[in-house]
Amino acid sequence: MTDTLIIRRPDDWHLHLRDGAMLAAVAPHSADFGRAIIMPNLVPPVVTGAQAADYRARILAALPAGAALQPQMTLYLTDSTDPADVLAAHRDGIIRAVKLYPAGATTNSASGVTDFDRVRPVLEAMAEAGIPLCVHGEVTDPAVDIFDREAVFIDRVLDPVRRATPGLRVVMEHITTSDGVDYARAGGDDLAATITTHHLVINRNAILAGGIRPHYYCLPVAKRESHRLALRNAATSGDARFFLGTDSAPHADSAKLQPCGCAGCFTAPNTMSILAQVFEQDGALDRLEAFASLNGAAFYGLPPNDDRITLTRRDTPATYPTSITAGDETVTVFDPGFALYWHLEKK
Ligand code: NCD
Ligand code: ZN
Repeated sequence: MTDTLIIRRPDDWHLHLRDGAMLAAVAPHSADFGRAIIMPNLVPPVVTGAQAADYRARILAALPAGAALQPQMTLYLTDSTDPADVLAAHRDGIIRAVKLYPAGATTNSASGVTDFDRVRPVLEAMAEAGIPLCVHGEVTDPAVDIFDREAVFIDRVLDPVRRATPGLRVVMEHITTSDGVDYARAGGDDLAATITTHHLVINRNAILAGGIRPHYYCLPVAKRESHRLALRNAATSGDARFFLGTDSAPHADSAKLQPCGCAGCFTAPNTMSILAQVFEQDGALDRLEAFASLNGAAFYGLPPNDDRITLTRRDTPATYPTSITAGDETVTVFDPGFALYWHLEKK
């Protein structure tokens, strides 16, 4: 059996690093990734190029010396985003992409888009300049069942927006359904999808069966087993349209363990160990590099990272903290529910 895996340094194409004490606590756990697309859903959100540049400086200051991570900044699209600011921020190398949250779809998305006609000029400018749009693909219509919100979004919003904006490069973020997999597979090379670590591991039973487990609650919410298997199949297939975006989304335990707890799984500390185990289980270790290190860079028009990481399979499980401390708070690390035998070697 393969017990040493050397792959190009992976990238994380969807990451929440937060700000302040939380940023200081979580950033070191993503330091071994090469590039990471940084989500802009701070409070208030990152909406201008100047704010993105400031946030990037705060992230760099929070990273340990020698960290590999190069933050790739995004702007949070609102109804009043100025196309000229987006173009300037991209031209100046401040941002890599723009993030679309339908208003109210997820954590800190109150400023998101309410009317797609209003953002049409921005989307057209982005298509022309080749700036990718990262999409949180869920409708917010309260009449739509939460388990159907991704599939309905594809029909009602994503497909019409793509048809109306030829050439727009779109990343379907953190897909959770076979509908998302099928739609991404049917697209051309202007369409891709990220898949999280946790959605490869859990289905909705993990959240709801035998008691409510808030640390498995994230958005989009995990779906039934057939959807998880479709995601596993897509991620391990080597298909260039699917790549890693962990959506590592840390929250203080005090915010998650509430009558109305917030959404997000914190997977940064153990993601590569979990992924190696998942790909090994599916007989696809030779395709982990495509998923984690090659496909995303290619979609974003970047070369793969020059250097490599080593994962070693040992008889003793890898250890990782069950929780970390951020200021006065604790943040629980995602528990995959099985022991992890792949160790990420630290230089
Ligand atoms: C994210 C967060 O906490 O910012 N939460 C989540 O459940 N994934 C927001 C998001 O990516 O939807
Ligand atoms: Zn996210």
